Order: sequence, then structure tokens, then C-alpha cells
Amino acid sequence: MCYAIPGKVVGTRGRIAVLDYFGERREAVNELGAVSGEYAYAQGGFVVDKVPASQAVPVLEEWKGRFFQLKELDGKLSAIGERPEGEFGEVIGKALEGAALDRGEIIRLIEAEGMEMDALLKAANSLRARELKNSCCVHGIIEFSNYCRNACSYCGIRGPSGIRRYRMEPEEIVGTAERAVRELGFRALVLQSGEDYYYSGEILADIARRVRSLGALVFMSVGSRDKETYREMWDAGARGVLLRFETSDPGVYGKVHSGPKAQLEERLSLIRHCRKLGYIVATGSIAGLPGQGTGSLADDILLTRSLGAEMWSFGPFIPHPETPRGEHPKPELSTVLKLLATSRLVQPDAKILVTTALETLHPEGRRRGLLAGANSLMINLTPAQHRSKYSIYPGRPDNHKGVEESIAETLKLLYSLGRAPTDLGA
Ligand code: 5AD
Repeated sequence: MCYAIPGKVVGTRGRIAVLDYFGERREAVNELGAVSGEYAYAQGGFVVDKVPASQAVPVLEEWKGRFFQLKELDGKLSAIGERPEGEFGEVIGKALEGAALDRGEIIRLIEAEGMEMDALLKAANSLRARELKNSCCVHGIIEFSNYCRNACSYCGIRGPSGIRRYRMEPEEIVGTAERAVRELGFRALVLQSGEDYYYSGEILADIARRVRSLGALVFMSVGSRDKETYREMWDAGARGVLLRFETSDPGVYGKVHSGPKAQLEERLSLIRHCRKLGYIVATGSIAGLPGQGTGSLADDILLTRSLGAEMWSFGPFIPHPETPRGEHPKPELSTVLKLLATSRLVQPDAKILVTTALETLHPEGRRRGLLAGANSLMINLTPAQHRSKYSIYPGRPDNHKGVEESIAETLKLLYSLGRAPTDLGA
């Protein structure tokens, strides 16, 4: 089983390796010094592992036929429909031609209804296929602690809530990651927790180093920790951060977010710091927070663009009954789909995630998200005994699923849409 295919190094240029995948060329930062003729796995634009030809060639043989079959199916499913007439069609046309959309145009897209909405989603999917082909990132996520020093009013693992807490020791985290890489075939892992200071910067860096050395791209998702901690994790080999700004509206942020570092500006400064260090930045917001209108969602998109995020993560708010926002309604599926599609039109080459929250909002959330321009997914690898305790919101569909079952379902879905669960790099 494989969630990334190896590429053959066909050239190097300074720190860059050029990899070939069945005739498609991609570039990746060559941190492992791979040379022409070698085979390597690249994830998120970084070479993460070199593999001997004896291991790579059979994988490529197995994939070859399927690779082209899937491409053909995706080509059919992502054919662009008719462009609507009038000024709405012009906005879509402008995006397809690669022009930057302004705030008014972004709002116009997020507010699309009926046939206009259908045209928006189709345009986004065709743009995804044009820019990034049919590859879909499938990252594994390990939620290693639900302790949190914050009290964000929307979040089920907020400090004051009475849930049962758990914390995985570094050995257990690395052991889970090892199984994910060695037995299940994952090449990119997200390590997520509440803001839990039980793990010092040094401990987090050590975990990142050990997981990286398994041959995986490591994303850290540990909240507003010190800039120094993010530097330590970078030095240890973590190459991605997943850190949402949650909302671009400082008023809404101040109302829903809490903790000693409650200010939006500080969060943004941390995200910029990570970008400067060289991390792949995954960020975004929650859609449907109290007091958040369409203009605010448009600002979220513009902010994500200005932060230089490679991976965009927008998901719906799901009320958690044991939080102060337990009565606040969740958004419509269509609102989130329009947000994903508009994101694609604004940043054609972004990796756009279908979040677990979208799957929770609607049973078809994953499929519909992928058809609205998204091209990234996560599979939950948190050990079964902890999983239901990581209850940031209730009703997560994967709570009672085994990892093998989740993988099989994900692959079935991807193949039915002509997508290849690979990450061919930037
Ligand atoms: N609904 C949707 N998303 C939530 N998150 C936290 N609580 C909720 C909720 N009730 C999201 C936050 C956080 C991510 C890990 O989970 O955006 O960054």
C-alpha cells in the first residue's frame, strides 16, 4: 500500500532535485543529496526519503497502468462546463486566465447561488486539474494530546471543559508514526495536539527528528508555541506547520479565542515567522463563527494568500454542546464548498484540504469538497483508545473506524474520482 509514489531523479541543480514520474517532471528540495539515477520520495516539495531501485521499480510498475487510467477519468470529471453569462462569468473567466481577484469579486463568488454556484465549483475543479493534475495529498494525522491551556469558546478540548484527558508519551507517538510509515505506507504525517506545555520545545523537536528520520515529511500542529520552539522543530527536521489563524477578523478572534496569546496579530506574526524559517505553511479559518459574515470569509481567503500558505485549510464550525458556543448553528455545506472553490480560483496552485469537519458536517463532504477544487485529505492515525477523546467537535465520522478501514474507504473514493493518492511535490 502506498500513499506516494517514488520518482526517479533525472537531474540536480544546486539544492534542487528534478524527479520524473511517468514523464511528468517535478522539483523538490534535495536535503538528502539524491543523485541522478536514484529513486526518492518527495512530499510537499522536499525529498523525504531515498529508496533502492529494487524497492521503487515494483511500485512504479504496479502504478503505471493505474496512473494513466486515473488521469483519464479525472480529465472527464473535471471538464469545464459552460461559463455563465454576464459579470459573474467574467469573474470566473478572469480567474481562469490567472488574474488576481479583488475583495468584491471574491465576495461575489462566495455568495453565488444556483447555476452560478454550480459553475463556480466546476471551474474550480477544472482549474485544480489544469494546475495540479490528479494528485491528491493524503497525510496521516496523529493527535497526541488533548490537554490545552486555552479556553477558545468553540473548541471541545478547551482547558476548562471536563473531558477525559490523554497524553501520548514520545515513545508512543514515534511508535505510531513508525507503523504509519513502515506498515501503512504514509510519507507525510501531521502531529497535532492542544497547546500542551508538558511537551517542551526540546521534546517536540526530538519527536520531530525521530519521525523525520523514518522517511516522512513532518507537519507540526501544536498551536501558538514560542517562535524559538518552531525554530527548534525546524532544525530537527519538521518541514510543515499546520496553524490556522481561525478568523481574519480581530473582533471575532478576540471573542472566540482565548489564552495568554489571544491576539490575532501575534498568531499571524508566528505564522509569518514559520514561513520565513522555510516551513510549508498550512493555514486557514473556521467558517461559521459567530459574527462572521461573507466579507470576513473573503478576508480569510485574502489573508491566506498574503501569508504565502502552500496548504489552505478551511473547515466548518461544528457546535460542541459542552462549550459556550454549543447553541450556535453550523454553516451549510454549500457555504464551505463555495469557500473551497473560491480559494482555488484565488490560488490555483494551492493544496486545498478537505477537513474532517467537512466530513462531519455532511456525509458527502469529502467527495463534494474534492469536486469543488480541493486536493488534499487527512487520515486519522490516532490510536483507537485515545481517538474519541480528541473531541474538538462532536460526531467525527472516523471516531470508530479502524485505520485500515479509513484507508480503504479513502482509496476507493479517490479512485472513483480519478485521483492518485500521491504528492508529487511543488
Ligand atoms: N468546529 C470546527 N473546527 C474546530 N476547531 C476547533 N474547534 C472546532 C469546532 N467546534 C478547529 C480549529 C483548530 C483545529 C485543530 O480544529 O480551527 O485550529
